[in-house]
Formats: sequence, structure tokens, C-alpha cells
Amino acid sequence: MTSETGSPAARARRIVALNTAYFQAKALQSAVELGLFELLADRSADIEEIRTELGVAHRLFKDFLDALVGLDLLEREDGRYRVAALATEFLVPGAPTYLGGTAQQHARLHFHAWAQLTDALRDGKAKSAVAAQGPLAYPKHYEDLDRARQVMMHMDAHNGFTADELARQIDWSGYTSFVDVGGARGNVASRIAAAHPHLKGGVFDLPALRPLFDELVGAAGTADRVSFHGGDFFASPLPEADVLIFGHVLPDWPVADRQELLRRAFKAVRPGGKVVLYDAMIDPDERDPEVLLQRINHTMIRDDSSAYSLDQARAYLEEAGFTVDRVVATDTITRDHLAIGTKSV
Ligand SMILES: C[S@@+](CC[C@H](N)C(=O)[O-])C[C@H]1O[C@@H](n2cnc3c(N)ncnc32)[C@H](O)[C@@H]1O
Repeated sequence: MTSETGSPAARARRIVALNTAYFQAKALQSAVELGLFELLADRSADIEEIRTELGVAHRLFKDFLDALVGLDLLEREDGRYRVAALATEFLVPGAPTYLGGTAQQHARLHFHAWAQLTDALRDGKAKSAVAAQGPLAYPKHYEDLDRARQVMMHMDAHNGFTADELARQIDWSGYTSFVDVGGARGNVASRIAAAHPHLKGGVFDLPALRPLFDELVGAAGTADRVSFHGGDFFASPLPEADVLIFGHVLPDWPVADRQELLRRAFKAVRPGGKVVLYDAMIDPDERDPEVLLQRINHTMIRDDSSAYSLDQARAYLEEAGFTVDRVVATDTITRDHLAIGTKSV
């Protein structure tokens, strides 16, 4: 990791780059917030057209655009700007792997929490507004449907990649049904159903999400095979299925609640079926700073959030009655692990 090569100034620039890495984060987030990638999705434009259409006044706006060229998000030719391939894939609204929603959520919420990292390290407390924390945080976010849609876009940016891994990594041929518990507006369920046309899927989540679920499956063309079950997963029985999925759900809850959810899952999974957990689980050998800092990110937002380890995942499955099949790393944004257990016949 540490290279001693280069001049003192070159080595110093590495520290300066770390110190100012947030410049790049904010440039990306502001470009998304301004609607720049949307504006340039199908056409090129010169700086004056862009200024006028986005309503920006900064005298160094050209530097802003050229910095985005340097960051591989825009291209410039003969003074006209267009979206570069990387931004077309991930930052133009409507892209199947759209990441603009998570950029906006970081601008609105995470960036402000991270500004207080030193305090968080000292006092061990989350730094988001109280409304973003605790068991009531989700119902609170969902009181306003547009706000809920923004939260969903942030979640979907991450879970879309996981959905594709689930579609690939699980042998679905022997199963006909699955339910994604805490499955939000159904992005994962819809993608799995689209990849495996013989499956019928369900999403169990808070009732307020039903309209957003309807929107998503309507647009994805999976409404006939994926249904929504509204309820509180601590109060209502979980729908029966061959496979139950819990993704990014357990870390929000204390250990006793996680165990309770998996006991409920054991009742709902048909004999021979499976439960699948996906999360940014703690791998004691993990050294990638991106993965490690992502984990801290959750604790910056929610006081009660805590990651669990690969061994704890195995223990949760076994305590609930499942036999552990495997715990594997995935190729997803936050390099989630999958933990898969079977309920014996
Ligand atoms: C962190 S999100 C994960 C969403 C999705 N599985 C993913 O991977 O992106 C947690 C989900 O649990 C849902 N949830 C929270 N409390 C719940 C409850 N009591 N009953 C049902 N769902 C709940 C939330 O609405 C949210 O969709």
C-alpha cells in the first residue's frame, strides 16, 4: 500500500488528495442534483446552453464541467459537452443500474453525518437527524411518498447488483416461489423474477410502500408474477415460500430481533427450501478501506445499526433451525456476502 517513490511533493499530493477527496464527491453529487447528466443524456451542448438550461451562475462553471471531463463523467469536443460512457451507464435517470439516487441521498444525508465523524468516533453515536434513526425511521420516511421514492432509489442503487448475484448464484430450478422480506419497493424481487420466468415472487414490507411497489413492477413488466404483502414483519406471519430473502434488513435490529425474524422465516420456508441473507458482513480478513468505511457509514446514520460477521451469520441460521449451505462474497457495490441456509425436508 505505501509507496515511497516519487518526489516529496508527489507523496504529499497523495495526502492532499485524501484530504480533499470530498471535492470529487460533491462535484458528482452537484452534477446529479443540477440534472446535468439528464440534460446531456441524448445531446451535446456548449457551456452557455448548459448554464441557461440548468440556471447556474458560478463564474468557474467551466472548471466544474472540465473537472467532470477529467473524472471521466463528461466528454468535451469542440467546446461541446456530452455524457461519457461511465455516466451513461450509471448516472442518466432511467438506466437499469442508476446510481444518481444514492448520490443524492449522500448529498442530503450522509455527507452531513460524515462531517461529524470525529465526534462520532469519540462518542460512538450516529450523526443523522433523529428522524433517520430507530425502528420508527422507516415509517417516518414513508409519510411523504416523494421522500420515500428517493430513499428507494438509494436502496435500489445497491440492491440491483445484489439481485443479479442472487439470480445467478442460487439454483432456482427446483423452486417456484420466493419472498423478499423487507424487500422495499420490489427491485430485487422483480429482477429475480425477470431472470427466472418460472418463479412467482413476493415482497413483504411496510404497507406504505405499496404504491411505489406498484410503480416499479408496472414499469418492469413483472406485476403478474410479483406481489406485495404489506405488514410489520414482527407482528404478521411471513408469507410461505420456497425461498425467503432478507437483504440489508438484519443490521437495523438488535440481535434478539434478528433471531426472531429468522425463527419466523423458518416457519414460513417450505421444507427443502432456503433462507438467503445478504449484507455487508464482517470478514475479519477484509482490508479494503472502501469496504471498511462503508460499514462505518451505516453507523453514522443509525445508532442501532450494527454489522454482523460471517460466523454470526452462520450462527443466526443454525439457531433458527437451518443447515448452512454456504457463506460467499459477491461482486456487488459494497461487496456484500450471501449466507444461504436450507430447511431440511
Ligand atoms: C435497509 S432497507 C433494505 C431494503 C432492501 N432489502 C435492500 O436490500 O435494499 C430495510 C427494509 O426493511 C423494511 N422494514 C423496516 N421495518 C419493517 C417492518 N417492521 N416490517 C416490514 N418491513 C420493514 C423497510 O421498509 C426497508 O424496505
